[in-house]
Amino acid sequence: MRLTIDDVRSRFKKHFNNEEGSVYASPGRINLIGEHTDYNGGFVFPGAVQQGMIAEIKPNGTRTIRAYSIDLKDYAEFSIDDPAGPTASHFRYLFGVAREMMKLGVAVEGFDTAFAGDVPLGAGMSSSAALESTYAFAINDLFGDNKIDKMTLAKVGQATEHNYLGLNCGIMDQFASVHGKKGNLMRLDCRSGEFEYFPWNPKGYKLVLINSCVKHELAGSPYNDRRNSCENVAKACAAKHPEAKIETLRECTWDMLEEVKGECSEEDIKRATFVLGEKDRVLAVCDALERGDYETVGQKMYETHYGLSKDYEVSCEELDFLNDIAKECSVTGSRIMGGGFGGCTINLVAEELYDNFVKTVVPKFEEKYGKKPIVIDVVIGDGSRKLC
Ligand code: GLA
Repeated sequence: MRLTIDDVRSRFKKHFNNEEGSVYASPGRINLIGEHTDYNGGFVFPGAVQQGMIAEIKPNGTRTIRAYSIDLKDYAEFSIDDPAGPTASHFRYLFGVAREMMKLGVAVEGFDTAFAGDVPLGAGMSSSAALESTYAFAINDLFGDNKIDKMTLAKVGQATEHNYLGLNCGIMDQFASVHGKKGNLMRLDCRSGEFEYFPWNPKGYKLVLINSCVKHELAGSPYNDRRNSCENVAKACAAKHPEAKIETLRECTWDMLEEVKGECSEEDIKRATFVLGEKDRVLAVCDALERGDYETVGQKMYETHYGLSKDYEVSCEELDFLNDIAKECSVTGSRIMGGGFGGCTINLVAEELYDNFVKTVVPKFEEKYGKKPIVIDVVIGDGSRKLC
């Protein structure tokens, strides 16, 4: 069900004495390829989706945020000056964003807010980035004269994850949510921050997500361990090659990886093997897209799935099953999307095979796991914005 502004407005009114504030929205995201490459200084290929978060906000002239989560029917009040902040994670996102904006010199004040979203939670579609971006954008507008640039707003969301949720994520999700543009994917170089829009119009193909509904919670998951493994290997390569000025796996080569095999744990080497392969795949996909060669794009997606499952070990039985069924249905490309440990697969499917795929995968999954997976057609939408 698509979320409407009116829903949020009426709940805000009801909760806050018939008042009216400003309304902002930010989307979730998909990612065509380039997984776990962002914190390794590599490339990613995301796009914003139509599903997102909507928040109504009105400054209340105090130092307190009074926040109502419409979806969770949960309310909290917390001071922006108390560093401890609220305990519930859905409120910590907005508290963290407010605090990070204060660090940037924005004169944040207290506000009343109600928020809701239609990005499925824990599906790997970045509902949390959508929430962070909504508040970063809104606070910049309401208290900061819009002086903070978009990339910095994305970094505010990322810093919120690091400092208030304990997840050492990369920049992809918040970047995509803030910068999204209807009909376009974005190719971001996470080392330099440079990016370009890439019109996404794959004639004859569709992108569809299949949500396994295995809840993925990255905070508290081994996501941070994966990042540590990558950093260990990058450090080992840097020690051997000071001339290469290695900061992340982006600067490491296959030869270097071979050289440090004896010094790093087998597990760390496996993780780095995936990341080096993924760097190559992203570039291959960019070339293939320029030629309109979607078969190669799809093949790379399957390779990414294999690597995420076997070397990076962020898959689960249900996601591997969805990938197998996609293969059986001759889907062009299929893989885990996002951080892993549950959530969705993203599938590039020829239009004429779409119906058969959906008709096959849903009952087969249900028969095996006792619950229906959710089919989500991807429509690439806009990034953070003020609605009214
Ligand atoms: C999560 C993180 C991102 C990125 C992906 C994996 O979505 O928030 O920064 O690392 O996982 O590509």
